[in-house]
Order: sequence, then C-alpha cells, then structure tokens
Amino acid sequence: MVRKVSSSSSKLHGLGPTGQLYNEMLAKILDAIAAHPALYVGLLTVFCLVLQVFLLGAQGVGRMLDDRKRAVLERRRLELEIEKARLHIKAAEEAKQAWNGVRKFAVARKMLECADTFSYYLEPHDRRPLPAFKPGQYLTFHLNVPGASKPIVRCYSLSDMARATHYRVTIKRCAAPEGSPHPPGVGSSFFTDQVKVGDILDVKAPSGHFFLDIEKDRQVVLISGGVGVTPMMAMAQALKYAGSTREIWFFHGARNTKDHMMREEMAALAADYEHLRMHICYSKPLETDVMGRDYQHAGRVTVELFKQLLPSNNYDYFLCGPGPFMETITEDLRKWGVPDAWVHFEAFGPASVKRTAKPETKVGVTVPPMGGIDVTFAKSGRTLTWQGSGLSLLDLADENQIKIDAGCRAGNCGSCLVAIKSGTVEYLGAHADVEDGSCLACVCRPASALVIDA
Ligand SMILES: Cc1cc2nc3c(=O)[nH]c(=O)nc-3n(C[C@H](O)[C@H](O)[C@H](O)COP(=O)(O)OP(=O)(O)OC[C@H]3O[C@@H](n4cnc5c(N)ncnc54)[C@H](O)[C@@H]3O)c2cc1C
Ligand code: FES
Repeated sequence: MVRKVSSSSSKLHGLGPTGQLYNEMLAKILDAIAAHPALYVGLLTVFCLVLQVFLLGAQGVGRMLDDRKRAVLERRRLELEIEKARLHIKAAEEAKQAWNGVRKFAVARKMLECADTFSYYLEPHDRRPLPAFKPGQYLTFHLNVPGASKPIVRCYSLSDMARATHYRVTIKRCAAPEGSPHPPGVGSSFFTDQVKVGDILDVKAPSGHFFLDIEKDRQVVLISGGVGVTPMMAMAQALKYAGSTREIWFFHGARNTKDHMMREEMAALAADYEHLRMHICYSKPLETDVMGRDYQHAGRVTVELFKQLLPSNNYDYFLCGPGPFMETITEDLRKWGVPDAWVHFEAFGPASVKRTAKPETKVGVTVPPMGGIDVTFAKSGRTLTWQGSGLSLLDLADENQIKIDAGCRAGNCGSCLVAIKSGTVEYLGAHADVEDGSCLACVCRPASALVIDA
C-alpha cells in the first residue's frame, strides 16, 4: 500500500524539495515494513542487539580506561612507597657510615677566626660521603704530635651543621694559665702551629650526648662564652637549615672584636634568620667597637640579662663555655626556677659544673661508707679517700693533680682508660665498651677499695 503524502500538507508545513524527498522515502519505508513486517521486526531486533553490544563495548572500554588510570595511580603510590623505603635505608646506611676506629681526613682549608683560633675544614681521604651528626656533637682526634710517645687524644666540637662533603672544627690555642711555668696546651698548639692544608689527621666518628634535637619545636636559648660558641653555631646553623620556626635566642660572650670568633658568620646568621635573636656581650669592648653594630651589651652574659629580655624562663637552655662561666649561669638559672632538666651543657675541660649541675646522674650509685673508699693510684704512689665529693675517678685524680689522660670526659673516646689492679668500680652512665680489668676513669667511681694503674 502506498500512502499518499499530499502536496497540500507539504505546502502546509512549508517543506522544500528536500523535505518532499524525505517524505517520499519515509512513505516507501513504511510501505515496505507493511509489506514484510517480520523482516523489519527482525532487522529492528538485530539493530537493537548491535546497539546493546556497542553500548556494552563502550562501557567496557570506559571501565578499562578507569582500571588503567587506577593501575597508574597504584603504581605511582607503590613507587613513592619504594622511594620512601629507599630513603629510610639510605638514612640507616648513612648512620652506619659512622665508622669504627679512626678514619683519615685531609685538611682542606685552615681559616683564621680570631687571635690564636682557626677553623679546619676536613674532607674524608676516602672521598666517601660523611654520616650526618647531631648538632652539638664532637670529633675525637688522635694526634701524632712530634715528640709524643703515643697519639694525643683530643675532642673538638663540630662547629657547623652536618654536610656530606666535609666537617668543620674550630680550635683555640689553650694558653698556659697566667703566671704558670707550663707550656700552652699540647693538642691545640699542635693544631695552631703545625697542622696545615693537605695534612692528614686520624679522626673518630662524631659522638657525644650534648646535642639539640632539631625535630622538637620547644623554644631554646643558646648560650656560649669564648670557644664554647662552636657547638652553638652547629645548632643555630642546623636550625636555620631545617627551617625551624621555633623561638631561638643566642647569647654569646667575648672580650671584644679581637677575640670574637666567627663574628661575620654570626652576623650573617642573625641577619638571615628571622626566628633567631642574637645578643653579643663584650666584657672589654675596644674603643673601636661599636655598640649596636659589633655588640649589643657591654658586660658578661648573665641570667640577669635573660630576665630582662626573655618573656619567661620557660626555655631549653644549651650552654658551653669556660668553667666559671658555666658554673655561674647554671647556678643562676637554678635560682631563677629553671628545672635542671631544661639545662644542657658541655664542658670543654675539667669544669666543676659537672659536679653541681646534674646531681640526679648519681641515681643507683653506691653511697660511700662512713670514712669513704680508698683509691690507690699505683703509678703515682698515692692513696686518696673518695668521699663521694667528686663524681668520677678522673675528677678525683684532677683535684689531686694526678695525671690521667682525658679527651671527651663522657665515656666515648677511651683516652682515660686505666687498668684496675684490684677492687671494683661502677659506672655513672652510658659509656664505650671496656674489657674486664680496665675502666674509663671519666665515667666511673669506686665501688670498693680500689687500686688503679695511674
Ligand atoms: C666534648 C669537648 C669538645 C671540645 N670542643 C672544643 C672546641 O670546639 N674548640 C676548642 O678549642 N676546644 C674544644 N675542647 C677542648 C679540647 O678538647 C682541649 O681540651 C683543649 O684544646 C686543650 O687541649 P690541649 O692539648 O691544647 O691542652 P693540654 O695539653 O691538655 O693542657 C691544658 C692546660 O694545661 C696546662 N698545662 C700544661 N702542662 C701542665 C702541667 N704539667 N700541669 C698543669 N697544667 C699544665 C696548659 O698550659 C693548658 O692550659 C673540647 C673538649 C671537649 C671535652
Ligand atoms: S675521657 Fe673520653 S672516655 Fe674518658
């Protein structure tokens, strides 16, 4: 049957020749469907099936693309995990690179800091990367000083933040006490007068319990006098490098510009690091020294000054300097109500501050019996009575002018090792391993009547 599509209706709808053609085609299709309905139902079904297959396919492709995207993201996540693990392993390996015994270092640079004080830049002779250290730690040197029968062991704080290529120490010649007939210090004079660029030195890995934890965010006060500035500079530089935003105060005491070591480096640090407030105190400023430019305060570093400047006493305090300087400051901090736990210090020599500032380190240690414990120094031919007044055997020896070699005074370097002829000792804290029959005099005290080979 042919349906007529009237020309009047095409006119009615305003169709042109194309519209007319379309109408005719449509009419033909409808006629064909009417003539063979089964065929067209079949065709329609096939068409629907094809459409469904197409839609399913498209859905599948979409899912595949999603899966691929997920897989890429998962792979990236795994790569990041692996990278993280790799960094952990690298850090652990770096920590392991802290070598045992001595390692050879070449002096790459020797730089005058101020009168009788030089910085030494030390590169590992084997050129392998250096382990990081905690700011405040020190290196132990075994110095082959001409004329000495055995290496002289001396410790020097690292005076810069950790770097992979070199370490830096800053050493001041230890002058003989005024009026003393003795020569100036052996180790520091060797450095000042003899060590030069290109020399090779034997150095033990960084160690020490006096350090600042960079990860913490508690506000700190760094306090130094003279060459005690070395660990403080390492701490301040490390804080800056880590981008620490904690409140940092840095008080340093020197006589004047002449003996103010690392002056320019300190000024640059203060100018570049907004979280650090630097206060330089000169006890004997020169006429040419200008307050406000070279220093901020005339006089010594004192707790009175902290009281004027700090909003409260609620800080961690890190101190290093000459014995009397540290004794006064630790005592005055205590009087100001600062708990001992907030005060951390390093003595560069036999400073008596060790005896007064941390009495809690005596926990678990024998109380001397009435009348004390006898300690015989066999080589010196003297017997002394330990009354508990000195913390260690080394202190007892120092107080009585009996010579026992010492480096770190913290149980690390081994230079105070002495043989025990009879009797027993007990340790005051952590220390390097020691064979039976010997003891580290700097960190032990007698537990019974004792004879040592010193
Ligand atoms: C952990 C730590 C870190 C340190 N960090 C630094 C640092 O960064 N920079 C630094 O410069 N120092 C530092 N020191 C100090 C350093 O280790 C040495 O103690 C210092 O250099 C003096 O050693 P010396 O061999 O020159 O002096 P020594 O030979 O030990 O002499 C010391 C003093 O004794 C006098 N003397 C000599 N002979 C006699 C005698 N027969 N009787 C009595 N007195 C005598 C000397 O004149 C001198 O004044 C640090 C010390 C420690 C423990
Ligand atoms: S002085 Fe270093 S271990 Fe005693």
